[in-house]
Amino acid sequence: MSYSANLRLDVGQETELPVFIGSEGERALDIDKLRAGTGLVTLDESFGNTASCRSAITYLHGEKGILRYRGYPIEELAEKSRFVEVAYLLMYGDLPTSGQLEDFSSILNSSSLIHEDMRHFFLAFPNNAHPMSLLTTMVASLSAFYPVPENPSDEDEAQIIANLVSQVRTIAAFSYKKFIGEPVVYPSYKLRFVENFLNMMFSSPVSNYQQDQDIVKAIEAFLIVHADHEQNCSTSAVRIAGSSLANVYAVISAGISALWGRRHGGANQEVIAMLKTIQHSGDDGRLFLEAAKSKKTRLMGFGHRIYKTFDPRALIMKKLCHRILGKPGMSDPMFDIAMRLEEAALSDDYFLSRNLYPNVDFYSGLILKAAGIPFDMFTVLFAIGRTPGWLAHWREMRHDAGNRIARPRQIYIGPGLRSYIPVGTREKHSVGVMRRTSTKISRIPEKYLDHPDPGDEAPESV
Ligand code: ACO
Repeated sequence: MSYSANLRLDVGQETELPVFIGSEGERALDIDKLRAGTGLVTLDESFGNTASCRSAITYLHGEKGILRYRGYPIEELAEKSRFVEVAYLLMYGDLPTSGQLEDFSSILNSSSLIHEDMRHFFLAFPNNAHPMSLLTTMVASLSAFYPVPENPSDEDEAQIIANLVSQVRTIAAFSYKKFIGEPVVYPSYKLRFVENFLNMMFSSPVSNYQQDQDIVKAIEAFLIVHADHEQNCSTSAVRIAGSSLANVYAVISAGISALWGRRHGGANQEVIAMLKTIQHSGDDGRLFLEAAKSKKTRLMGFGHRIYKTFDPRALIMKKLCHRILGKPGMSDPMFDIAMRLEEAALSDDYFLSRNLYPNVDFYSGLILKAAGIPFDMFTVLFAIGRTPGWLAHWREMRHDAGNRIARPRQIYIGPGLRSYIPVGTREKHSVGVMRRTSTKISRIPEKYLDHPDPGDEAPESV
């Protein structure tokens, strides 16, 4: 059945807009002909009501807490599959057969080294450079070493995908080694994707890294739950940059740059900072909750732009925390604080009435911490996980015959026409810059701090 909506304007104009219905029944007003028919455009700052594309990759339902990749529930994928399988699924639409998985793993393995000359780039960065600054730069630099044909064939495309999925991981580990001043460890054909990463991170010429299969499984699950989340900030950055037909390595670097911000990929670090602060303050969490309720701070890892119930990824991460942190010698008092905070928040009307539930970040940082991943690498791990998702969207877009360059419109609110005034004759004019006020929210209440927090806007959902 097809639907349409009638738009009646008070200037006596009326226009009919078709309603597009997605495969899960989501409805969208198709405004493609709106400007041509009425002269109007839509104004939707931060795109809260705008579907920017049709996509067959990921389905999420915020009210019901559903997340599916290509139709498969995230819970099943996180429990039963491996990251490499999920990467294949996102990219090509179906779970791989054993032969396809073998071929995919083999091309990932053969593509996992970066050009040896690129290793010298790491030397030029300052020792304390943030690993995300290295990652974004090095991924863009891959474009110089791995030229992309103007119209990549299917084979070229498969090679590009393998390069990026594999090399982002290698660069991430090399960046960490640079950060701690140790020699890089090369990927090994003997190890699987996650084991390889952990080995590149934690083994050295003087120590052998012992793999713990529970940690391996937890990192697999971490990467899987972060692998795609439809049109979030970084994926939108990838689609917008990719729509200009820019070099794919530069396109993925744009995604990494967008992810870097604490409103996006940086939120799991904020949760650990919050838990640490509570732990050191001696507060049982109640004071922090009160500070969050009186808007002095936010309960990090709670709330989501799309999910208005439990983020399904948070439930997966919490279960894994129980599994990992319940092992002898692995307990972490921060996990107890997190669970107490969750329990108190979910019996408090402030949080319930606003549909504020734990999001993926509430527990994921604890998993990374348990695996020994340093704080500054948290967002890098997110980037490794999200790379297949970005590539799947890039691939979907390039195979969409109707794809055009992304070019949003704006509503101009600056000065009207005025004439140029020669420099010597200009009076002191007030600068006509429009400023929007934004609420600055301290990430951590001052009560908890030895020094005042400069404050920042809270991270947003991704
Ligand atoms: N703690 C306390 N109050 C909150 C929180 C929170 N974490 N989140 C929202 N609120 C309150 C707001 O103050 C507002 O209250 P009001 O109605 O009295 O004004 C109400 O809930 C709605 O908040 P909005 O900011 O409008 O909700 P929105 O959906 O736009 O924001 C966001 C979602 C940004 C994620 C928010 O919940 C938040 O800041 N959470 C903490 C940061 C965080 O965990 N980010 C990670 C998100 S998931 C991810 O990155 C993978």
